[in-house]
Amino acid sequence: MTNKIPVWIDVDTGVDDSAALLVACKLPQLDIRGISAVAGNVVLANSFENTRRVCALAGRSEIPIYPGADRPLFNVLETASHIHGEDGLGGAEIPPSPAPVETKPAWDALYEAAVACGGELQVISVGPLTDLAIAFQKYPELKTLIKRILIMGGAAKGGNVTPCAEFNIVADPHAAQMVFKAGVQVVMCGLDVTMQAYLTHPELAQIENYDSDVCRFMGTAIARAKAFYAAIIAPIVCLHDVCPVLFAAYPHIFSGEEAGVYVETRGTITNGKTVTDLWSDKQFPEKNAFVVLDVDREAFAGLVTDILTSY
Ligand code: BDR
Ligand code: CA
Repeated sequence: MTNKIPVWIDVDTGVDDSAALLVACKLPQLDIRGISAVAGNVVLANSFENTRRVCALAGRSEIPIYPGADRPLFNVLETASHIHGEDGLGGAEIPPSPAPVETKPAWDALYEAAVACGGELQVISVGPLTDLAIAFQKYPELKTLIKRILIMGGAAKGGNVTPCAEFNIVADPHAAQMVFKAGVQVVMCGLDVTMQAYLTHPELAQIENYDSDVCRFMGTAIARAKAFYAAIIAPIVCLHDVCPVLFAAYPHIFSGEEAGVYVETRGTITNGKTVTDLWSDKQFPEKNAFVVLDVDREAFAGLVTDILTSY
């Protein structure tokens, strides 16, 4: 028996997904039972290949990586190449993985891992929730086998694709709604907390200037995101996807509140909004989520820097 937390990670590997994977692969608290790649920031072929390469770079090519959905359940796929580059890694080149290519669909592999973990598996999802929704549809008993789902997605306030919708949720709102309704607690690391989860340029420089393959890769991959954030927000880069990974291992640096959360799937101007009852007189019947609202930013930046420079 091990005290490690068994986790499954679902990614749409762009730049901050890469950081999330590199952090997760180093955390002694986590036992990564499998990883799946979904279409989102980039098309599935790139998401899958990037995930394989980043895990190999982390020295973890023994972790099996499965292909997931190549499109949202009903919507047309819209990628985010303006932030992550056409390839998803901001043009950074890393060697192919030596691992055999898995062909089992993500939802089947996830179900098998959940059965093997006997109800203890935690799922960390940092892309559109399509793979998880398909898994819940195909295996209704899965809801009894997953302990909790930690996502990067949504926002109690605001949005980054529309004034009220965040990328991972608006990319596949129907899938997200299925996940919030599945009956498993969702830890929602939305923009409320992930916009606080940034590194400043001097903090990023510590990683960029560190002499290792992982840090050289992050330095190149993050350049485009740096320019994007500098132009529209400040000289920072938000590492959204690292939040649920660090929440799993260091929950004390985060704070939030239990809430009811559901997703708008039919709105015209509110499509993809994660509607919470946090500040409302009217409450949803169930508190199906823990909405993370704050992080100790300096602790977050310190952990990310320490972990990435430990490669
Ligand atoms: C989310 O969208 C993607 O671009 C990032 O990887 C992150 O998962 C932020 O809205
Ligand atoms: Ca992502």
